[in-house]
Amino acid sequence: IVLLRTETTEALHARLVQTLPFSFGSLRLASSFKAADLTIERNPACKPKPDPSTLLFGKQFSDHMLTISWSEKGGWEAPEIKPFQNLSLHPATSALHYSIELFEGMKAFRGFDNHIRLFRPMLNMERMHRSAERSCLPLFDKNELLECIKKLVEVDQEWVPYSQTASLYIRPTFIGTEPSLGVARPGKAMIFVIVGPVGPYFATGSFNPVSLLADPSFVRAWKGGVGAYKMGGNYGPTIAVQNEAQKRGCQQVLWLYEEEEQITEVGTMNLFIYWTNTKGERELVTPPLDGIILPGVTRQSLLDLSRSWGEFKVTECTVNMKELLDALDAGRVLEMFGAGTACVVCPVGSLLYKGKTYQIPTMQNGPDLAKRFYTELTDIQVSLLHV
Ligand SMILES: Cc1ncc(COP(=O)(O)O)c(C=O)c1O
Repeated sequence: IVLLRTETTEALHARLVQTLPFSFGSLRLASSFKAADLTIERNPACKPKPDPSTLLFGKQFSDHMLTISWSEKGGWEAPEIKPFQNLSLHPATSALHYSIELFEGMKAFRGFDNHIRLFRPMLNMERMHRSAERSCLPLFDKNELLECIKKLVEVDQEWVPYSQTASLYIRPTFIGTEPSLGVARPGKAMIFVIVGPVGPYFATGSFNPVSLLADPSFVRAWKGGVGAYKMGGNYGPTIAVQNEAQKRGCQQVLWLYEEEEQITEVGTMNLFIYWTNTKGERELVTPPLDGIILPGVTRQSLLDLSRSWGEFKVTECTVNMKELLDALDAGRVLEMFGAGTACVVCPVGSLLYKGKTYQIPTMQNGPDLAKRFYTELTDIQVSLLHV
């Protein structure tokens, strides 16, 4: 398994770490599990692999899973790869009562050369580590976890679709398994990783623009909160808002924040606006990592790519609804799109805001930039493009 652009620059690491609103210190980095201690129990009854053209997101899982248990008394146990199976949890398990839970989402791709690659996986490991710190879960060595995940992908390598449009989705998960009801730091915890094949987001091969509900009465995350961490508790409460968007004829939610209605994220994606700014310059803008935005791997990759091109201004700054509507009114908006692992980029076609629908001319403008990002990133992932 080849790691693609695994190591980011020191500067990038430093900048990502700075996005933490505050530090909880290294609460429990006493020790870590080691990939060298990994044991593998092969599944004697491997399932047939699905046709890549029929895949739905998150419905099919491979033959194996990775589990790593921890307890206050015994520390980390040896990692285990074993046949995919149900978990057995005490009914008082703290993850079930107090959402002491976090996860990651990343993908393995089968390249044109038949090599399997992970895309910038260390960024996911770092985000997972930050989420663990914020959740009072025990810390671990990120490299060791990545080595265990690589081994799982290797064991289940036949589950990485033989297709340049489908991939293997990897879901690392970390839960508090403390079997008691006190609201306290768990004395038991478990990391588990499951994987499954997923199809192309844009099945037709062309972009489908989404319509957004922008209603300031709904808030996804707030300053001092945990929006910058990938905790399950950030996601469950958004489902009712997503349903509300659908009731109002929209596909996704544009999350706004505070009185000035700052634009933060779209659905479970980071947001980008490509426009001519008030100074008449071509600019790509995305909200800054100020604690309410999830630091997306795709977001970082689009910023890195566009900065490497050096063709237009690239800015991380706050944009509010008024600035967006003024720019739309003046015909300065070229493209607006979400960015995330699932779709790479997802064009925005319209906005429903205070009862009025605003058309966004993303598709009329190609969308040249969104398509370029999509092609370049997917070419890197399947190794058409070397970095
Ligand atoms: C709230 C939120 N924002 C942004 C993203 C995009 O992050 P990434 O590019 O790492 O998939 C995700 C997806 O995980 C998300 O859940």
